[in-house]
Amino acid sequence: MGKIGIFFGSDTGNTRRVAKTIHKKLGDDADAPVNVQKASIDDLLKYDALILGTPTLGEGELPGLDSGGSAESWAEFLPQLQGVDLTGKVVALFGLGDQEGYGDEFVDALIFIYNQVIESGAKVVGSWPTEGYSFEASKAIVEGDFVGLVIDHDNQKDLTEERIDEWLEIVKPELLAA
Ligand SMILES: Cc1cc2nc3c(=O)[nH]c(=O)nc-3n(C[C@H](O)[C@H](O)[C@H](O)COP(=O)(O)O)c2cc1C
Repeated sequence: MGKIGIFFGSDTGNTRRVAKTIHKKLGDDADAPVNVQKASIDDLLKYDALILGTPTLGEGELPGLDSGGSAESWAEFLPQLQGVDLTGKVVALFGLGDQEGYGDEFVDALIFIYNQVIESGAKVVGSWPTEGYSFEASKAIVEGDFVGLVIDHDNQKDLTEERIDEWLEIVKPELLAA
C-alpha cells in the first residue's frame, strides 16, 4: 500500500485524468486514484495522507445528484465524514473549474471539502496562489489563496502539467511526513 491515498469525483472525466497524472508523478508513494462513488469512509481512513479532488458543477456545487453530475459522488460522500475524526491526517486538495464559463463561482466546490476535512480535524496543505487565473469570485479562497491546486482544463489546458509539478513539489514532503 502506498503512503498517499487519492480520491476524486468526476463527471466528464477531467478530474479523473488529473488524479491519474498526479498518481503517475507520485509513483509508489501513492495508490491508484479511486472514484468516491466506489469508496467507503473506511477506504479513506486507511491513509494518513490524502489527496482529494473535485470538479465544480451545477452552480458552484460538488458533483452529485443535485448538480446534475454522477450520483453517489462527493455531494453524497462528503456528509458521511461528519463526526469522523481525521486528527493527524494531512490532506491536499485539488479542484477543476472553468474560469470563463463560471467566473463568479470559480472552483467553489473545493470549499465544501476543505470545510469538512478541517471540521473533522485534518491538516490541509497545498494552498495555491490566485495569480494566473481571471475570474470574478470564488468561495474557495481562504486568506488570499485557493485552498488547493486549481486546474482549468477548459481554458488553460497547457498549464495543467506545470501546475501539477509545482504543487506536488510543495505538498509531497508534507504528505510523506504525515
Ligand atoms: C453543468 C456544468 C456546471 C459547471 N459549473 C461550474 C461552476 O459553477 N464553477 C466552475 O468553476 N466550473 C464549473 N463547471 C466547469 C467544470 O468544473 C469543468 O468543466 C471541469 O473540468 C469538469 O470536470 P470533470 O470532467 O471531472 O467533471 C461546470 C461545468 C458544467 C458542465
